[in-house]
Amino acid sequence: MGGCQAVPMPDLTLPEPRTPDPADAPPLRWGVLAPGHIAGHWAAAVREHTRQGLVAVGSRSPERAAAFAREHGMDRVHTSYDALVDDPGVDAVYVASPHSHHRDHALLALRAGKHVLVEKAFTRNAAEARELVSAARDAGVLLMEAMWTRYLPHTDVVRRVLEDGLLGDVHRITADYGVRAVQDPTHRLLDPALAGGVLLDLGIYPLSFASSVARAAGLPVRPTGVQAAGSLTSTGVDAQVSAQIGYGPAQAQVFTSMLTASGHTARVYGSLGRIEVDDRCYVPAGVSLTIGTQAGTWDANRIHGYGGLCFQAAALATYAAEGRTDSPLLPLDETVTILETADEIRRQVGVVYPNET
Ligand SMILES: NC(=O)c1ccc[n+]([C@@H]2O[C@H](COP(=O)([O-])OP(=O)(O)OC[C@H]3O[C@@H](n4cnc5c(N)ncnc54)[C@H](OP(=O)(O)O)[C@@H]3O)[C@@H](O)[C@H]2O)c1
Repeated sequence: MGGCQAVPMPDLTLPEPRTPDPADAPPLRWGVLAPGHIAGHWAAAVREHTRQGLVAVGSRSPERAAAFAREHGMDRVHTSYDALVDDPGVDAVYVASPHSHHRDHALLALRAGKHVLVEKAFTRNAAEARELVSAARDAGVLLMEAMWTRYLPHTDVVRRVLEDGLLGDVHRITADYGVRAVQDPTHRLLDPALAGGVLLDLGIYPLSFASSVARAAGLPVRPTGVQAAGSLTSTGVDAQVSAQIGYGPAQAQVFTSMLTASGHTARVYGSLGRIEVDDRCYVPAGVSLTIGTQAGTWDANRIHGYGGLCFQAAALATYAAEGRTDSPLLPLDETVTILETADEIRRQVGVVYPNET
């Protein structure tokens, strides 16, 4: 009798993502509103990895619209956003203007009865977001925030780890997005009139990550406390922000900066272990799960970098075909709550945009 008993090894096989192949989503006819930097990456990703139809583009500039249409094989060029949203051959509009203009441009598309995918940050503030939600409900169409990370395969691995309780009780969330960003003093990131500042541009990712963890871990999604600190640019927008956010018994620390390359890492710590998303956690990334001294990893991404922008478009097409008017992975109520948190952080840091509605 007696002797040593072997300690059972924890199972560190990470769950597989449930993310559908974007090529399987039923095709919609898309119009691109504002063919700037990110719209080019989005269109390239959608063309390469999905069966979605890119049929029309709307720009304030005929030359820009024509060049974009040529590059992405689109049939129709509109020289105003009104003409784009009124195009009867368009089912869904991708709004890729600066976030200062998302409210106005998304309202145009919603009132024309189109499904709408709105780039992050969804709007400047929660009040504008509520207006869009109400317009979408009136029109009976699908409205989604283009927070593309929510739709990536590695995000579903994290979601499943949390939903399955593999970390035990969640106590701490950390998420970081800092880059030494802007050299050009005329860039929209520095311009208060274009809702510049790092919080809405980059900080919205760690805020959304923390909220997604709270949702999947069964914590309150509405923060129970927010304390922020930050510094401003000479133009009066936020250059760097850190915030401590309470989600019931758990706390999140989020950090964002355009002054320093602090990394793009996200971690969740629970009573049994922790999960960590690789540096570059907002694009398709790897995940590691640590329980005690043992670690397991998942990194089976087939689509990399900006190619990952295709997943949200495929999700919208699938939800629209199912008759949904809200995304199950990022419901509009949660988008509004995240912007309420951003509003509170901006209030504490002292950033107000001109003509903010
Ligand atoms: N998902 C991501 O990874 C990601 C990355 C970067 C940016 N974004 C988001 O995408 C949005 C656009 O960012 P971007 O970097 O693509 O910007 P950008 O290159 O400056 O393009 C924005 C486009 O918006 C249109 N626009 C309409 N009104 C404007 C105004 N008053 N001032 C400037 N442009 C105006 C312009 O198109 P026309 O003049 O041709 O109509 C312009 O090409 C932002 O909300 C940003 O946060 C997302």
